[in-house]
Amino acid sequence: MKRIQLFEFEDFSWFPYWLRTCMTNLLMVLHRMMGISEVLADLITDSLKRQDLNQIVDLGSGSGGAMPEVLQLVRKTPRFEHVELILTDLYPNPEIVKKYEHGDMHGVTYRSKPVDATNISKAPQGLKTMINSFHHMPPEAARKILQSCQENRQPLLVYELAENKMPLLLWWLLLPISLLILMVMVLFMTPFVKPMTWQQLVFTYLIPIIPICYAWDGQASLPRMYAFKDIDILLEGLHSDTYTWEKGYAYKKNNKKTGTYLIGLPIG
Ligand SMILES: C[S@@+](CC[C@H](N)C(=O)[O-])C[C@H]1O[C@@H](n2cnc3c(N)ncnc32)[C@H](O)[C@@H]1O
Repeated sequence: MKRIQLFEFEDFSWFPYWLRTCMTNLLMVLHRMMGISEVLADLITDSLKRQDLNQIVDLGSGSGGAMPEVLQLVRKTPRFEHVELILTDLYPNPEIVKKYEHGDMHGVTYRSKPVDATNISKAPQGLKTMINSFHHMPPEAARKILQSCQENRQPLLVYELAENKMPLLLWWLLLPISLLILMVMVLFMTPFVKPMTWQQLVFTYLIPIIPICYAWDGQASLPRMYAFKDIDILLEGLHSDTYTWEKGYAYKKNNKKTGTYLIGLPIG
């Protein structure tokens, strides 16, 4: 496989909730900057149509990412005005859960109990989505997710914003400068974080733990992503007449390549 198993801070169970949230908040800013909501809304609406579904269950949601905005876009499509979104995570942050309990985001809820993406049979019914979280799964767990979706006839959409195509040696050589660039980017992205907290400010500008952890996790994400050939390896032996897998590049309306997807759908 091209993918390698590096660590990311946010995967450690001991990593503080508030710090993980500060980092996933930055991811939300990045998603807004990259405009991935439209891309995701198209992919999701298409899958909902093909399966005649009206519920989305996002796995590994973090702070929600682009999904709440995606839901509002999906709901603009006739017949999908009442689609519901359930956000879930292995480490749900109680404060974020509360925000969706009392928030004004119609149709969005956040499960307070941990939902492990590797155990799809226990997840609520609906189109499962994994947005920028599939690369967190080591090959055994990733394979388990795909297999479990197929066996339980659950539709799945995996989306990754970037692609693992850089030679690994070049990645190591560029690592110092890439880390520096990402750390500086955090300084400029932080003012756009909503809602702003004192931790986000203090641990960015006074004690820069967030830029360091975000830069490492961001860089480590790249070689952890499953390249298309890796996906083929994960799917080996999973082909059947009752379930179909499709993978490819996602495109914005202006035809700009914006990430990759893998869609698994039951047939019939
Ligand atoms: C990079 S964040 C992505 C967050 C969000 N989807 C987004 O686009 O901003 C990855 C998330 O996956 C979660 N995660 C890691 N392992 C998981 C698992 N086995 N099951 C569910 N979530 C998991 C982490 O807690 C983290 O919040």
